[in-house]
Amino acid sequence: PRSVWLSRHGESLYNLYGRIGGDAELSPRGVQYAKKLPELVRQSVGGDRPLTVWTSTLKRTISTAKYLPETYNQLQWKALDELDAGVCDGMTYQEIKDVYPEDFQARDEDKYNYRYRGGESYRDVVIRLEPIIMELERSEDILIVTHQAILRCIYAYFMKKDQSRSPWMNVPLHCLIKLTPRAYGTEEERYQADI
Ligand code: F6P
Repeated sequence: PRSVWLSRHGESLYNLYGRIGGDAELSPRGVQYAKKLPELVRQSVGGDRPLTVWTSTLKRTISTAKYLPETYNQLQWKALDELDAGVCDGMTYQEIKDVYPEDFQARDEDKYNYRYRGGESYRDVVIRLEPIIMELERSEDILIVTHQAILRCIYAYFMKKDQSRSPWMNVPLHCLIKLTPRAYGTEEERYQADI
């Protein structure tokens, strides 16, 4: 690809309450980000070239892409849904620590390989993203609006970091990342929304 654009969804109500997973709608701040995103994209593209937008199937990513120009094609991928936290879906980290202390510790000790009960690990996510990465490699001008764990894996891939380091990649809310692969490495630009 010439460039790939990456963004997390805007702040969701679950982000606000510190709950993981779920399918919550955007918070008022999250909606503000969705409304700013078209401007950030325009700035970063440097022109009016239309992008193709890939979201997950979850409400918070679809709502984040809602204000992008109608000329942008949009596609939803189940493979872009957030890391499945299984029985811990919808809990806060404190609740997980209280109810599943051994799991909490196991994840702390090996975050890349730890698989939530009835859910996924980062390693699992890397595998399920393979078709997405293949499709991305042969596409141009894709903007991906998805979730923290998913973006960490995609980001690590393009930045040529070892996949096992994915869980620690810094992918903040309300920040559009533009990655441009070059012969000597991937160039990175970040556009933080001031909201
Ligand atoms: O808190 C937002 C979130 O996207 C959760 O849905 C997800 O479980 C988590 O981040 C992933 O981050 P970490 O792997 O650091 O827990």
